[in-house]
Amino acid sequence: MSSTATQLGKQDSAKPQPQLRALLVEDNALDAALVLRALYKDGFEVTADVVQDEAAFTRTLRAHPPEVVLADYNLPNWKGMEALKVLRSEGLDIPMILVSGALGDVTAVECIKQGATDYVLKDGLARLPGVARRALREKDERGLRQQAEQDLAKKVDELARSNADLEQFAYVASHDLQEPLRMVTAYTQLLAERYRGKLDENADKFIGYASEGAQRIAVMAEVLQTLAPAIQESGARVTHDALPVVWADRTQLAQVFQNLVGNAIKFRGKEPPVVSVKAEKTTHRWRFSVSDNGIGIAPEFAENIFVVFQRLHARTEYPGNGIGLAICKKIVERNGGKIWVESQPGSGSSFKFTLPRHDPDEREGAPS
Ligand SMILES: Nc1ncnc2c1ncn2[C@@H]1O[C@H](COP(=O)(O)OP(=O)(O)O)[C@@H](O)[C@H]1O
Ligand SMILES: [Mg+2]
Repeated sequence: MSSTATQLGKQDSAKPQPQLRALLVEDNALDAALVLRALYKDGFEVTADVVQDEAAFTRTLRAHPPEVVLADYNLPNWKGMEALKVLRSEGLDIPMILVSGALGDVTAVECIKQGATDYVLKDGLARLPGVARRALREKDERGLRQQAEQDLAKKVDELARSNADLEQFAYVASHDLQEPLRMVTAYTQLLAERYRGKLDENADKFIGYASEGAQRIAVMAEVLQTLAPAIQESGARVTHDALPVVWADRTQLAQVFQNLVGNAIKFRGKEPPVVSVKAEKTTHRWRFSVSDNGIGIAPEFAENIFVVFQRLHARTEYPGNGIGLAICKKIVERNGGKIWVESQPGSGSSFKFTLPRHDPDEREGAPS
């Protein structure tokens, strides 16, 4: 029951001693003194509480949390290993070293399995300082690792948040830019129509540059260049209409065509792929199509394939990750259009998507 605070250490020592707050679970005062002496002799400046039962242990733990617990294995009123349970229930990560008169190898191993950091025999106390040092170092390392893990988790969290912000920003920005850009295009086109040949040659040229710059030019050439290796390797023939100018993010539109033409080549049948890209004008929209002579898709999967990670084939059969069409869908819908597939197994597929037409004198928003 009794709890005694003992201090051992040289106050006048020139070299600062490592401070150590220890909690001893020990019923034999002489043994306790020997333990402290072993630590002190090795240079520790030890402050220690000595307790003999669970109540005193718990109380002292709370009042003066130690850096290390040194527990005798056998006590008249308690068992040293019980100290571990208390440490756990208090949520404390404090190393516990068993200091015992005689401890068979089997018992020692069992104690360490249960969570004791190490054990030292009372007639081999010279080992204690080294064991204590290692226990403290390991605890520091655990702390650092935990800190690093927490920092990492925080960074991942921040990154996710800033990504979401960025995405939101890009969306808002592209949305906000659409209206003014549309006006610039409309009026440069008007300028071109009304005043071509009426001003000087330079004026015509400048108007030409301006309308070209304000419009996003068709992206097919770029797409075909990216897919050149796949086209060459498969012997594909890719044809395309003269494609119209549309209002959409150029990079994103290129991505849509790239995914669709890429799939048309990838999911080919026995014949070399024949792919055609077309654009038709409907009342209020452009309707694009990418058609192939490949393996086709059963109607019951026509919707599923636009869901992320949904694929109809093993990766060994056709490589891929199943995100291409999900991205296409997201891009097309963000730009105010729709995407779908018309296909029968064995007789090719035709992927179609619409985008609003933004002719200078037209209003948007009508259905196709
Ligand atoms: N042109 C096509 N012909 C036949 N099946 C296709 C075609 N395009 C897509 N698919 C089917 O839709 C699935 C999803 O396509 P996608 O999202 O681009 O992923 P991935 O190309 O990585 O497989 C494909 O795995 C395939 O089963
Ligand atoms: Mg794909």
